[in-house]
Amino acid sequence: MNKNEHLFSVEPNVIWRPQKKQAMFMARGEDEALYGGAAGGGKSDALIIEATRQVHLPHYKALILRRTAPQLSELIEKSHRYYPRAFPEARYLASSRTWRFPGGAKIVFGTMQHTADKTNYQGQAYDFIAFDELTHFTKEEYDYLRSRNRPNGPGTRCYIRATANPGGIGHGWVKDRFITAAPPMTTIRERIPIECPDGRVREEYRSRIFVPSTVFDNDILLQNDPGYLTRLGSLPEAERRALLYGDWDSYTGQFFSEWRDDPAHYADRRWTHVIDPFEIPESFHIYRSFDWGYNRPFSCGWWAVDHEGVAYRILELYGCTGTPNEGVRWTAQRVFEEIRKTEQEHRWLKGKHIRGVADPAIFAHDGGESIADTAMRARVYFSPGDNQRLPGWMQMHYRLSFDEEGYPMMYVFKNCRGFIRTVPTLIYDERRAEDLDTEGEDHIADETRYFCMARPIAPREAKRPDGRAPDALSLFLDVRREDVSGYAARAKTEFSPITKT
Ligand SMILES: Nc1ncnc2c1ncn2[C@@H]1O[C@H](COP(=O)(O)OP(=O)(O)OP(=O)(O)O)[C@@H](O)[C@H]1O
Ligand SMILES: [Mg+2]
Repeated sequence: MNKNEHLFSVEPNVIWRPQKKQAMFMARGEDEALYGGAAGGGKSDALIIEATRQVHLPHYKALILRRTAPQLSELIEKSHRYYPRAFPEARYLASSRTWRFPGGAKIVFGTMQHTADKTNYQGQAYDFIAFDELTHFTKEEYDYLRSRNRPNGPGTRCYIRATANPGGIGHGWVKDRFITAAPPMTTIRERIPIECPDGRVREEYRSRIFVPSTVFDNDILLQNDPGYLTRLGSLPEAERRALLYGDWDSYTGQFFSEWRDDPAHYADRRWTHVIDPFEIPESFHIYRSFDWGYNRPFSCGWWAVDHEGVAYRILELYGCTGTPNEGVRWTAQRVFEEIRKTEQEHRWLKGKHIRGVADPAIFAHDGGESIADTAMRARVYFSPGDNQRLPGWMQMHYRLSFDEEGYPMMYVFKNCRGFIRTVPTLIYDERRAEDLDTEGEDHIADETRYFCMARPIAPREAKRPDGRAPDALSLFLDVRREDVSGYAARAKTEFSPITKT
C-alpha cells in the first residue's frame, strides 16, 4: 500500500502537502535556513520539494547535496516518487544525476565525499542549494558552496536550505551557526562589511534561521510506521536524546562523552568540568601546553595543578580568527612574544616557575630555526611532549571521568572558551577505533593531551551523575515543543500544495 494513500483518497489531486512544521520551514524568507535537528521530522521530503519551487523559470538551477553517493540515492528515489507526477514532462538524466524541466530549469544531485571535491562545483552557479544532513559537511565545504549560490538569470530567488541531525563531523559548527546562535524560529542577521575599491565600506546583511522539527511533527510517518517511534525510543541514551528530541548536547560518536558543562554547578564543582575561576594558590604547580598552527589555530593552555593532582585549565591563548578552525596566521615570533607577555603580566602566572610541554614536531629543524628555537629566543621554554595518541586520549578520559561524588581530575575555567567550544564537538574516527577524527577542530585537544601525558594519572572508572539513569519513559515526558503560533501567519512565501498539472 502506498504510504500516502490516505492523502490521495481525500484529495486525489494533491501529490504532496507540507505538514505544519514543513510549511513553517518552507515559508521562511531568510537567506539560509536549517530544518530539523532530530530524526524523522520530514526533512528530506521538505528539501526535495523546496527545490522545485522555481522550476518554471527557464534558467533556474538547483543543487541538492549529500555527502556520499549511497546516501544520495535515497534522495534521488524520493525525487522519482514526486517529480514525475507533478511535472510529467520532466526528464531525469542518470549520468549527470540531473532533472531537466520543460522550460530548461535543472535540479542537480551532487556529493562531496572529500573536501577536495569542492572543485567539481568551481565556476558553477546555483540559485538554490540544499544540504541534506549538513553535519556531515565541514564549514569549509559549506562556505565554498555558499559562494556558488548565485543567480543564473534575472528573477530567481537565491537561497540555501539545509537539514541536520545532531552528530557528525560538522556537529560543532552547525550547532554554533544555527542552534545556539539564537533561539529557534528567530532570525539571525549577520552584518557583513564589504570594503569597496574606493575605500568605502558597504554594509551587507545575511540572514539565517533554525526551524526545529522532530518525528512528533511528522504525523504521516507516525501513522504509517508507529514502530519508528519505538525504534528511536529504544536507542542508547545519547543517541535517543539526539535523534528523538533533537538534543544537540549529547550524541553518539562524541569523543569525550564524559564532558559536562553545567552552570548550576560552576560553584560547587560537581558533575561539571566547567567551573568559575578562582585565585590560584601560590603552592599550585603551573604548566603550559602548546600546539603550533598557522593556517589552522595554534593553541596555548595554562594549567594549575593542586596537591591532589587535580588540573585546572586556568587560561588559554587560542589563535583562531573567529571562524571555526581558521588560524590567525601569526608568525611564531609573535605567538611566543604574546605568551611571554601573558606570563609576565597575568597575576596567576607572574613570577611562577612554568613547565612547558609542546608538540614534539616544533623541535624539528627544516633547514632553518625550529619553532622551539624561536620560542627559546622569546624565553618561552618547552620540553617535547609525548605524542602517543591513544595513551594520551586515555589520560584525558581518566581525568575527565567523575568519581562517585561527581569530582573529576580536570576542570576548565569558564573563561577558556576555545576549549569549551571545540573539545566537546570532537568525534570518533570511523576507521581507527579509540582515536578521534582529525578533521575536527582538535588543536586544543592535542595540546591538552601533551599536558596530560606530562602529568599522567592512574586509570579511573567513570561514574554517572545521580538521577541520570537512562529511563525511556521519563524522557518521553520531557519533550519540549516550542510555541509556534503566529509564524505561519507572518510567512511571506507560503507554500501551496503541489498538485497534478
Ligand atoms: N508532507 C508529507 N507528505 C507525505 N509524506 C511525508 C511528508 N513529509 C514526510 N513524509 C514521509 O515521512 C517519512 C519521513 O520523512 P523524511 O524522510 O523526509 O524524514 P527525515 O526527517 O529526512 O528523516 P531522517 O532523519 O531519517 O533523514 C517519509 O516516508 C516521507 O515520505
Ligand atoms: Mg532524511
